[in-house]
Amino acid sequence: MQTWQGLLQGYRDWLPITEKTPNLTLCEGNTPLIYSDRLSDRVGANVYFKYEGLNPTGSFKDRGMVLAVAKALEEGSKAVICASTGNTSASAAAYAARSGIPSLIVIPHGYVALGKLAQALIYGARVLAIRGNFDQALEFVRRSAEHLPVTVVNSINPYRLEGQQTAAFEICDALSEAPDRLCIPVGNAGNISAYWKGFKAYYSKQKTSSLPKMCGFEAEGAAALVKGQAIPHPETFATAIRIGNPASAHLAMQAVNESGGTIDFVTDDEIRSAYQLIASEGVFAEPASAASVAGLLKLHEGGRISRDETIVCVLTGNGLKDPDSAVKTSAVEPLVIDADEAQVTMALERML
Ligand code: F0G
Repeated sequence: MQTWQGLLQGYRDWLPITEKTPNLTLCEGNTPLIYSDRLSDRVGANVYFKYEGLNPTGSFKDRGMVLAVAKALEEGSKAVICASTGNTSASAAAYAARSGIPSLIVIPHGYVALGKLAQALIYGARVLAIRGNFDQALEFVRRSAEHLPVTVVNSINPYRLEGQQTAAFEICDALSEAPDRLCIPVGNAGNISAYWKGFKAYYSKQKTSSLPKMCGFEAEGAAALVKGQAIPHPETFATAIRIGNPASAHLAMQAVNESGGTIDFVTDDEIRSAYQLIASEGVFAEPASAASVAGLLKLHEGGRISRDETIVCVLTGNGLKDPDSAVKTSAVEPLVIDADEAQVTMALERML
């Protein structure tokens, strides 16, 4: 039986792996591409979800983290450090735990979804919560790493983007071609840059004959790329992308411009309704992920989607990461009644 052995094995020829690179894996990658009947009908195209919430720690970060931590080990590093809105820290903590090295994590206090914080803690990370935002946390991490014996595993570490390219490879492998368009949430701007690198790598090796338009979506209150300037106090309900000074801004804009795509923002209300729409098809993604679908709907409403395009919306993280947002956003609440058969039967009849 041939089973999936993770990205370092699965895409060995496409990644900077040497004989000395440890074969680190939590069986990340190989996530499903799920056809969306409802979105396809609504926008008149073929729309798929790349459901990254099914990675081992529940987000796309595992793709880059497995390589970043493996290379850190190869280079003799004894610890890893990152700033995070939650998912990077969960992933760093998991791969560090797997490798038996410590992880240091700096997060914005009060703005990390509970599931993500729970992951970092249970994996044994050493967590510093600052009264400040992600951008400040990243600045502190960068500066501290200049004098501490640690490897930074934020997406400024080039191995993160190398590893994250594999999602683009998987999409092309699954479709036997590149999609016409990729819709993706943008926070620190690493992932859109990694996908573009991946699509170009496959194209240049003639595995595909075209390149997708890269369409990135920021949250309105954190739309530094759209506005062309840093946002000192970013705000959005989608805490994962509550970032005002994206580290890979330049690469992201290059991806958008080279591909003939777009960079735009979506409002928190648009994110919330896309979040519910995705769940209404049985797929649970976290709020930031829904920015990709909110963005697609905005493009459609602006008449920008052609008939029968193949479009992939990246769902970057699992909805279970942030149960509070799901409960608050849902229109329904559980009906609480006594454990009495007559009452239960009557209530169930009314619910049908
Ligand atoms: N979606 C989710 C669920 C994320 O966690 C992030 C980033 C993004 C989208 C945006 O990706 O930064 O590459 O543009 N999360 C980082 C973190 C910042 O710390 O977990 P990006």
